Amino acid sequence: MKIELRYFTGTGNSLKILDTCKEIFVQNNHETTISEINFNETNLNKSDILGFCFPVYAFGIPRICRKYLKSIQKFNIRQKVFVLITAGDSDESGFSISECVKILQKKNCDIVYSGVIQMPINWTTSPIPPFPPSREEAIEIIKVGVEQAKRITHEILNGIKKYHVFNYPKRFTKIHFYKDYWLFKYMGLQNLWRTFKVYDTCNGCQLCSKICPTKSIRIEDGKPVWTSTCEQCMRCVNFCPKESIFQSMGGETKGKNKYHEPDFKPKQTTTGHNTQYSQ
Ligand SMILES: Cc1cc2nc3c(=O)[nH]c(=O)nc-3n(C[C@H](O)[C@H](O)[C@H](O)COP(=O)(O)O)c2cc1C
Ligand code: SF4
Ligand code: SF4
Repeated sequence: MKIELRYFTGTGNSLKILDTCKEIFVQNNHETTISEINFNETNLNKSDILGFCFPVYAFGIPRICRKYLKSIQKFNIRQKVFVLITAGDSDESGFSISECVKILQKKNCDIVYSGVIQMPINWTTSPIPPFPPSREEAIEIIKVGVEQAKRITHEILNGIKKYHVFNYPKRFTKIHFYKDYWLFKYMGLQNLWRTFKVYDTCNGCQLCSKICPTKSIRIEDGKPVWTSTCEQCMRCVNFCPKESIFQSMGGETKGKNKYHEPDFKPKQTTTGHNTQYSQ
């Protein structure tokens, strides 16, 4: 079979999961391609299976993923698709799967599998716990997540259909859940870039700007400046070698664990704000 896989990731969890799927597909002699979502590639070729993996942000998918899924061209022939979401807590994936499914069904996709995989929390600037785990704890969580991804891939190959069922997170009342979902979706996530700041320890190395997946950090007078295309993916925060990045309004990061998937090495590009991702 020909299998195409697409992901978006801030700190490597979603890539790790989809890479694990790829490994199993390849071991079973299926021609498999994996790449990051790309707005220059919205006319996806027909494949036997198309798979997506995204993180959940505030009970939904990142804006960039929603925008990307909406931008792909409708398939002429019905396309088999699976959707996986990585979550800091498998109980808290909210509407992330249903958001993907709704958009993909309009693109003539047949959703053959959907699932949520728990991976380490990467939201270091969250004003409230839980915060990223220690390295040792993270490794244990990843091990379980990877095993789940392997099992899911075998199920997909064996034609087993499973669908994630929406649930209200146990930690939240229904009102609290909807309040947070709407607040973050329509006010929070697109405005939080304004709150990014650096401690005095920032040495102007520019790494944050070079690795940002949406090219949302400009360097001005040797210091990073965040712009509105930021997705809150936490890559800059968790990779800054001086642990200098924080957010005002409760997003302190001093003394907190930092997290990225240990094998994840983000590509470095030139600095500068790139309008490809403008909303
Ligand atoms: C801004 C933000 C919001 C998040 N919201 C949720 C959430 O609502 N539920 C959840 O389970 N995890 C949440 N997380 C945790 C991530 O979904 C989780 O760590 C994910 O695996 C990160 O994937 P990545 O490494 O591919 O970026 C959030 C993370 C960030 C940065
Ligand atoms: S990566 Fe950290 S130290 Fe380097 S410029 Fe960015 S904030 Fe400053
Ligand atoms: S600025 Fe930081 S948090 Fe925002 S998208 Fe870029 S790397 Fe992610």
